[in-house]
This record gives sequence, structure tokens and C-alpha cells, in this order.
Amino acid sequence: SKILVLNGPNLNLLGVREPGIYGSTGLKEVNEKLLSIASENGVELETFQSNAEFEIINKIHSAMGNVDYIVINPAAFTHTSVAIRDALLGVKIPFFEVHISNVHAREEFRHHSYLSDIATGVICGFGTDGYEYALRAAIKKILKN
Ligand code: DQA
Repeated sequence: SKILVLNGPNLNLLGVREPGIYGSTGLKEVNEKLLSIASENGVELETFQSNAEFEIINKIHSAMGNVDYIVINPAAFTHTSVAIRDALLGVKIPFFEVHISNVHAREEFRHHSYLSDIATGVICGFGTDGYEYALRAAIKKILKN
């Protein structure tokens, strides 16, 4: 079984970027923790970050047939991208949507997501721990099948 963790634009700056909102843990540290949880559970994990919408879309396409679950923080593309929504619908891979911050407590433009209604679940406002919660939930889903 394989899980893909996708991160969108500016999340390469995690730990440095607006630490009051996103915390001081870097993406490398987050991903290392996720890789260790996956290996403890005998699940394969791939992590990918891009600032480019087409690269995220291509990654979703290439997951078809070899990834069982996706955990995605689409970052700003959450609020703009019909194309990422269509890619996820196209490959029919179930996914959890993660946001580090509580997007509902922030600007109005962050309240709408193009993905939430087609996600299995959404986690927001738990800081970078949210990735871990989503990964554990995805592992639970996979191991049931
Ligand atoms: C985010 C929330 C988005 O609104 C924002 O554009 C991000 C990060 C989060 O993880 O809280 O880049 O997805």
C-alpha cells in the first residue's frame, strides 16, 4: 500500500514563513516524521512539494494505479484551483485535505475550498500535527481494505 503526501506553494518555506500562523517546524522535519509513521505501519510513503500547479497535477496523474490514498495541503491553490479538483476527481484516489492553520478563522477568501466537498475528510487548525492525524487516518482506511 502506498500513500502520497502533497504540499502546494510556499510550503517549502514552512518553519520560516509566518511562524505565528504556521509554526516553526520545517517541511523536512514534518516529512521525516510522516515517513517514520508510515514505515512503522508497513506502508510506503512518498512526499512531494511544488510551487507550480501543473507539477501537482502531473504528480496526481502519475499516482493513478499505484497510490491508495493522498494527503494534500494545496495551500493557496485550495482557494483557486479547479484544475487540482479535476485531477483528483480524474484519478479517483481518495484523499484527505490538510491545512495547518484554521482557515475558517482567517480571511474570507480562505473560507472556500475547491476540494473539501470531494475530500474524505478535512483537517485544519492543528498546526503541522494535522499531517500526522491525516496520515494515521489514511493508514487506517487502507489497512481496512
Ligand atoms: C494553508 C492555508 C491557505 O489558505 C494558505 O494559502 C496556505 C497554507 C494552511 O496550511 O493553513 O498557504 O493551506
